[in-house]
Amino acid sequence: MVRMAKQDDSLATDQWGFSTRAIHSQNHSSHEHGALNPPIYYTSTYGFESAEQCAARFSGDEPGMIYSRITNPTVQLLESRLANLENGEAAVAFGSGMGAISSLVWTFLRPNDEVIVDATLYGCTHSLVNHILPEFGIKVHPLDLTDPNNLKIYLNSNTKLVFFETPANPNMRLIDIAKVAETVKANCSAMVVVDSTYCTPYLQRPLDLGADMVIHSLTKYLNGHGDVIAGAAIGTNEAMTLMRKVGLKELTGACLSPMDAYLVLRGIKTLPIRMEKHCASATKIAAFLESHPQAASVAYPGLTSHPAHKLANRQMKLPGAMIAFEAKGGVEHGRQFMNRLTLWTRAVSLGDAESLAEHPASMTHASYTAEERKAHLISEGLVRLSVGLEDVDDLIKDLDQALG
Ligand SMILES: Cc1ncc(COP(=O)(O)O)c(C=O)c1O
Repeated sequence: MVRMAKQDDSLATDQWGFSTRAIHSQNHSSHEHGALNPPIYYTSTYGFESAEQCAARFSGDEPGMIYSRITNPTVQLLESRLANLENGEAAVAFGSGMGAISSLVWTFLRPNDEVIVDATLYGCTHSLVNHILPEFGIKVHPLDLTDPNNLKIYLNSNTKLVFFETPANPNMRLIDIAKVAETVKANCSAMVVVDSTYCTPYLQRPLDLGADMVIHSLTKYLNGHGDVIAGAAIGTNEAMTLMRKVGLKELTGACLSPMDAYLVLRGIKTLPIRMEKHCASATKIAAFLESHPQAASVAYPGLTSHPAHKLANRQMKLPGAMIAFEAKGGVEHGRQFMNRLTLWTRAVSLGDAESLAEHPASMTHASYTAEERKAHLISEGLVRLSVGLEDVDDLIKDLDQALG
């Protein structure tokens, strides 16, 4: 039996809940022989029926495919699904999260523009904005955006971009998206862009809170299986058209392969149940670590001890599954703790089924100088934990024995 396009179903698609949309949105299987799963369009280029059609496609008068660096049907389905889940108008998929972030900055920033970023950013993002953009005549102000009032000093008519992560990688600082967006809009026309990789749209939807664009490393929870590198930006039609036609097509060329788009679409189908389990286990692990005599500090938004616990309750559906942990005894004990882990894998990345532990100062955030890490609130002994989908009691036993 051919499954009909979803528009024919009795329940209107705009009434579907998140999980239904994660599985079905924008999928018209009747156009694809009723295939349950979307075809993977392995093609670099597309033939045209006439020279007139070639011209119409290139001028944009006729919608359709031209070349897979710009659009591909499998990638397009992923883009529509992400836009749907984030409540955005459109999305562009990229070959990595950094592909999305670099396409963002090269699309929208020019010499003499000013950028405000939060003090804590993923290491490669930090390097791009704080080390490389200034070489191109762009002024970058790293600020502590946990207090949005700090913005007011620097916002001016040259400010083109305000960029932050929440929760921030790796120290779990939380930023009030609605307050930052409100403050920026009251002072200038800069774009507010949130890297929401730690949350996915299941936990947090920045566009609903006033942000202009959301960035994801799809490599993480959205794909969820540790077998793909991918990224995305979601925002208005206008911004996404520029990201595609300038950033992706002409500047970075960081396009996503159709096979990887298919794998991310497959991952997204189980995103809600995975996030529920990730978060439930992280909540137990954070409580266990906080009560452990060897723990010096535990930062997890679900703990009442987290300085932004109330904001987390307001802004996030669940507290996520990333934990910033420091053992007593500083860097040396932290290293021993990591070396003793047997079930947790010592690895960068996050959001996989496997639980991962890493040391930001020597790994993901090694692109900061030691002084920068201090100034940007990343302590040397911090261990970043990505809680996976294993049995939580097994994970706790391993942490317990590793803490000694
Ligand atoms: C918060 C955040 N943003 C962006 C990235 C970059 O994503 P990718 O590794 O897919 O390029 C990462 C990678 O760890 C990340 O943690």
